[in-house]
Amino acid sequence: MTIVLVGFMGAGKTTIGKRLAQILDKPFIDLDSYIVEKDGRSIAEIFKTEGQEKFRQLEVCALKECLSQDAVLATGGGVIETPENIHMLKMNQVNIWLDTDIQELYSRITDDESRPNANGRTFLQIKELYNRRVSRYNEIAFMQVDSSRCVDDCVREIMDSLASL
Ligand code: S3P
Repeated sequence: MTIVLVGFMGAGKTTIGKRLAQILDKPFIDLDSYIVEKDGRSIAEIFKTEGQEKFRQLEVCALKECLSQDAVLATGGGVIETPENIHMLKMNQVNIWLDTDIQELYSRITDDESRPNANGRTFLQIKELYNRRVSRYNEIAFMQVDSSRCVDDCVREIMDSLASL
């Protein structure tokens, strides 16, 4: 089973995913790192040289490969931008949506040069992007977790829900 973490940039997918994987004794995969490793360029470089469209194509291929793994998979915040990814994720049993207040998300990602969709954007631009994406996270989510809390609390809640499967 692939346990997939989705949510906006800065929601804590990588941090919580690593801890969850440790507890479940499963491998942890970060989809962005997977893409970077295969491509040999950073996300920012791919955006800069080939554009977001190319990054989204690489993301579809990477998701296809990773969804067959028995692992905890942290996706990038824009994974739900591509209809093919939404389709694949809908077929996956456990998609956990990590979510927190937009103000908090903004403060975590603002001017992060490694995040081209956040770097140089105003609060209103980020909020608009978040608002556009919320319904898509919701559409594929098995559960929503308030990730404004500490990692341990989030992981405990996820473990409780997994136990009831
Ligand atoms: C993106 C989020 C990033 C990364 C890329 C695009 C987005 O992942 O995939 O920079 O469009 O929201 P994180 O959510 O891990 O920052």
